Formats: sequence, C-alpha cells, structure tokens
Amino acid sequence: MTDLKTLASLAVEARKNAYVPYSHFTVGAAVLCSDGTIYTGCNIENSSFGATICAERVAMTKAISDGHLKFDAIAIAADNGDDYIVPCGICRQFMSEFFSPQTPVLQVKSAEDFLVTPFENLFPGVFVLKK
Ligand code: THU
Repeated sequence: MTDLKTLASLAVEARKNAYVPYSHFTVGAAVLCSDGTIYTGCNIENSSFGATICAERVAMTKAISDGHLKFDAIAIAADNGDDYIVPCGICRQFMSEFFSPQTPVLQVKSAEDFLVTPFENLFPGVFVLKK
C-alpha cells in the first residue's frame, strides 16, 4: 500500500530528469495505478514549443501504454514559488479520460508539504463524448 507521502517524494525525485532548456521550470509526476504500480514522469520540452509534453502526461502515457487504465492518485511536484503547482488545462482534460471525480491530485512542494485535491475540484464539468 503506497502512502501519499511516498508518492509525493517520487514526484519530487522525478523532477530531476526534466528536460527544460527553454523554461527552466522542472516538473515531476508520479501516478499510482490501481494495482499498486507507480509510474513517474518529467516534463520534456522541444524547440517547437507545442511539442513539449508535461510531466503528468509522460507518467500517465507510460502507465497506459503498459496496459494500466485505472488510477488511484497522481502527485505533481514543482517549485511554483508561493503557490502549489496546478496541472495545465491539457493535462486536466487528459486526466479526465481516466480519473474519477474523487481521484486525489497531490500538488507537491516537497514530500512534507503538499495539498491533496479531488480531481473534480480542479476540473469540474468534464466533457464526455457520447458513444
Ligand atoms: N508543465 C508541466 O510539466 N506540468 C504542469 O502541470 C504545468 C506545466 C511544464 C510544461 C513546460 O515544460 C513547463 O512546465 C512550463 O510551462
């Protein structure tokens, strides 16, 4: 059973691999799959800025491409000054495909200092394509 503090510290650790020659803003993420597996990611920037991918989507795409579709929590770590990091709009939409309204999103300053926010508080009114 992974505790939230461990997930937060893995996100902090994942920041170290961020490839950020343009913004110098390092972000790490750690996503907890429902079977207990954890995947980490960092942001990866590109000369063509639109090709940049956020840490959250790196962690989640690693998990999804290994067959994990159910998630119990995600931790996102960055040094955002006085504020806690919040996921960008693209990441919120991406998460909405896989997260429940209650999925905890950890907004991490350090392993000792993080907020735990239900996903629905960050992204209410999710768009769902009618099949
Ligand atoms: N970024 C993330 O990785 N996650 C977020 O939640 C916010 C933004 C990255 C994208 C880019 O590499 C840098 O932070 C500045 O926007």
